[in-house]
Amino acid sequence: MSNSESKRGNPLTLGADREAALHHAAQIVLRAWKDFDHAREEEHVPSESLITRLHEPLPKSGMSAMAGLDLAAEVLDTSLAQSRPRYLAYIGSSGLEIGALADLLAHSYDVNLALDARAASLMDHQTLQWLGEFLGFPSGGGAFTSGGTISNITALVAARERAIPGSRFNGLGNAKPVVYCSADAHYSVRRGIELLGIGSRNVRSVPIDSERRLAPAALREMITSDISEGLTPIAVVATGGTTLIGAVDPIDAIADVCEEFGIWLHIDGAYGLPAAATQERASAFSGLARADSISIDAHKWMYVPKACSAVMVRDRNSLVSVFSHEEAYIPHDGALLNAVDYTLEYSRPLRALKLWLAFMVHGADEFRSAISQNLQQAQLLHDLATATPGFAVMPFRPALSIVPLRAVPEEVADLNAFNTALCDAIQSDGRVYLSQAVIDGEVWLRPCFTNFRTTEADVHETLAVIVELTKALRS
Ligand SMILES: Cc1ncc(COP(=O)(O)O)c(C=O)c1O
Repeated sequence: MSNSESKRGNPLTLGADREAALHHAAQIVLRAWKDFDHAREEEHVPSESLITRLHEPLPKSGMSAMAGLDLAAEVLDTSLAQSRPRYLAYIGSSGLEIGALADLLAHSYDVNLALDARAASLMDHQTLQWLGEFLGFPSGGGAFTSGGTISNITALVAARERAIPGSRFNGLGNAKPVVYCSADAHYSVRRGIELLGIGSRNVRSVPIDSERRLAPAALREMITSDISEGLTPIAVVATGGTTLIGAVDPIDAIADVCEEFGIWLHIDGAYGLPAAATQERASAFSGLARADSISIDAHKWMYVPKACSAVMVRDRNSLVSVFSHEEAYIPHDGALLNAVDYTLEYSRPLRALKLWLAFMVHGADEFRSAISQNLQQAQLLHDLATATPGFAVMPFRPALSIVPLRAVPEEVADLNAFNTALCDAIQSDGRVYLSQAVIDGEVWLRPCFTNFRTTEADVHETLAVIVELTKALRS
């Protein structure tokens, strides 16, 4: 029976299929969760028939909800899933189970946070406060956004307005703005600067030290020289966990420089900031509370499904001064602000629900334990690789949970080609999923631990697979 035959009433309702469809979806989710409990011995690839289906034209009439769900499950099951415990590529999120349920609820109610949504708006606010408290940042306000890229851009808009008051209305005029970040800062900073009309040529790449952290003395010199030439510093972006190797810039020393010159300090903690909540890494983030703004992606190392990032500022007015509007169709209730008055997006889903429910169900301490576990896994892999002949690691321990390593067999002349081939071999083997990164012209494997499902045994198996495939390539 097709879906249209099985229902009565309005178009687009699930009709008689509804309850069965919900049960069926729950079964599919449970099957997936059980499957994610352990790594797969090989990746499943899409069948020929599925590939054919994925090239079919738009259906004129529908199929049953059950059949549609089964097809969707087949697509997902033959896709790369970051939820799997040995998905260690890029910086993954891991589909936290309670977060996935929260998304189902949030999307079913489909609350819009553009204006006031009553209890949901209070929850949104509470979650932001909790997140600030968890990380050690005195949040004066902010918003959940779709990702670190948008969070960084949102903070930089506020910074631009503070450095060049009125630029929101007047443009940049004759000002010659500059922004500072380390050479290893995420490229979303440059993209943001391009969008803000500042131009990425005006982003200063501040030199880094031997552990790839921004050098505050060099920053100070650059700022002094730029100001003497009539340039206007807009912001310094320090990274709390670089994407390349997880380096944490020295926030306190950078805050000293920013304070001296009155420059906005933004911390891009999209990846690494959750480590600030752990006992073992809190000190690496000292000075965080002095920042003007921070970005944090809960969809990275807080494990919830995408998309759930947050931008927070110490002074909420810094956002209001750039985003608030008076429009005929967006009523203001007296002096009360609408959410759209302090963030860029208008229609906005209740992203906070997944983090709120996760904090409610697991509590802050369980999050700390999971993050600590990932930190320990990184140290373990670093130690194991150090003790394995024919492999190189960075000449310092991982600051967070990224562990660059590379095969360096004696007889191989082109190590970059070899490590690229090794990464390809690992990806097609499927027992572990890794990505590569180029560090100072060298190709490295770049495992990153941000998954609550990863175990110590997975760390051992990861290195075993790398060693086995290295041997195979050498022969
Ligand atoms: C340090 C840092 N900032 C920003 C981003 C961009 O985040 P998103 O992908 O959520 O836009 C990333 C992504 O990996 C990152 O590592």
